[in-house]
Amino acid sequence: MNSRSLILGAALGAAMLSGAAFADDNTVTIGMILPMTGPSASTGKQEKAAAELYIQQHGDTVAGKKIALIIKDDTGAADVTKRLAEELIGNDHASVLMGFGLTPLALAAAPVATEAKVPEIVTAAGTAMITEKSPYIARTSFTLPQASAPMADWALKNGIKKVVTIVTDYGPGVDAEKWFGDMFEKGGGTVVEKIRVPLKNPDFAPFLQRVKDDTPDAVFVFVPSGQGAVFMKEFVERGLDKSGVKLIGTGDVTDDDLLADMGDAALGAVTTHHYSAAHDSPENEAFVAAFEKANNGMRPNFMAVGAYDGMALVYKALEKTKGDASGDALIAAMKGMSWMSPRGPVSIDPETRDIVQNIYVRKVEKVDGALYNVEFATIPNVKDPFKAAKY
Ligand code: DHB
Repeated sequence: MNSRSLILGAALGAAMLSGAAFADDNTVTIGMILPMTGPSASTGKQEKAAAELYIQQHGDTVAGKKIALIIKDDTGAADVTKRLAEELIGNDHASVLMGFGLTPLALAAAPVATEAKVPEIVTAAGTAMITEKSPYIARTSFTLPQASAPMADWALKNGIKKVVTIVTDYGPGVDAEKWFGDMFEKGGGTVVEKIRVPLKNPDFAPFLQRVKDDTPDAVFVFVPSGQGAVFMKEFVERGLDKSGVKLIGTGDVTDDDLLADMGDAALGAVTTHHYSAAHDSPENEAFVAAFEKANNGMRPNFMAVGAYDGMALVYKALEKTKGDASGDALIAAMKGMSWMSPRGPVSIDPETRDIVQNIYVRKVEKVDGALYNVEFATIPNVKDPFKAAKY
């Protein structure tokens, strides 16, 4: 090879490199990691549909950048989540990681986000401490303390004095048990028994027999999205629906994805949560109609709204940075961001990077023949109380 072809070769290499960089610079890749299969597949299905709807409605160009959404199935296994996070950043040059169906999965990606300085948008998981695991995490779902503490307040004001708590035995369940229980007892109530049920293949029946024997005024429940129907079935089989024990909890148990098929046993259940498909606002009416239309009539649940707002947060941050997709610029732009969500007004707490939002008290009722969580009271602008106590 003569010197001329060497120089040419070098120039070509440089051109190819800059070509690659050019393509990268104009595309912002969002790597979404979801459980599309396995026990949490309903979360994956809802979140994927919502993220795609957001792009369909808002276009795939923001601040001059093309948005590429890559969705990967982690099957609900944390080691797979971590590997996919590394691959999305290393091979696909993802500027943002998003999704994570369960707390352990969100935690598995945190060190990868920190090391690569890539924002991790948590759109499903709800254990309070998740956002403390990386300065690059922001959350658009909710926290269990945020949803559980207001339930204690409602129970105390509505003649409930004796409660059994029953929660899934991992991060969000432990948070729900603590924040409902502590607030309820502080207000003069009694938690007679605290029951924890395994996350995998839960069988609630023996625990529900214990609830019946305890004769409490109410049972407070947290189960993750997707498990509410099994809980309700066993609640009825044990005759608890006819025993006068009131069903209360966070809204995960009366998940909109399953509620329509739960049967009348769910009627009257009172829960506190950040989203109901029945939320009465023009934004939500439009969201539900578009979501159902795009997905064969599937009703959006709180996971869908978490992903929809995750996309909104990325779009709004990119507009603010004028298309600068570096991790530090994006996470800085996300801090303090506020917008109108289908769930109501939301913002990202600049100190904690956690979502501040209304929590609604809802009761399961029939609306036009179908079961819905009908909101009847609002606690506005609730910060995660776990972190509010520290900052
Ligand atoms: C989590 C998962 C859920 O499905 C849910 O409803 C709430 C919390 C979690 O793993 O953090």
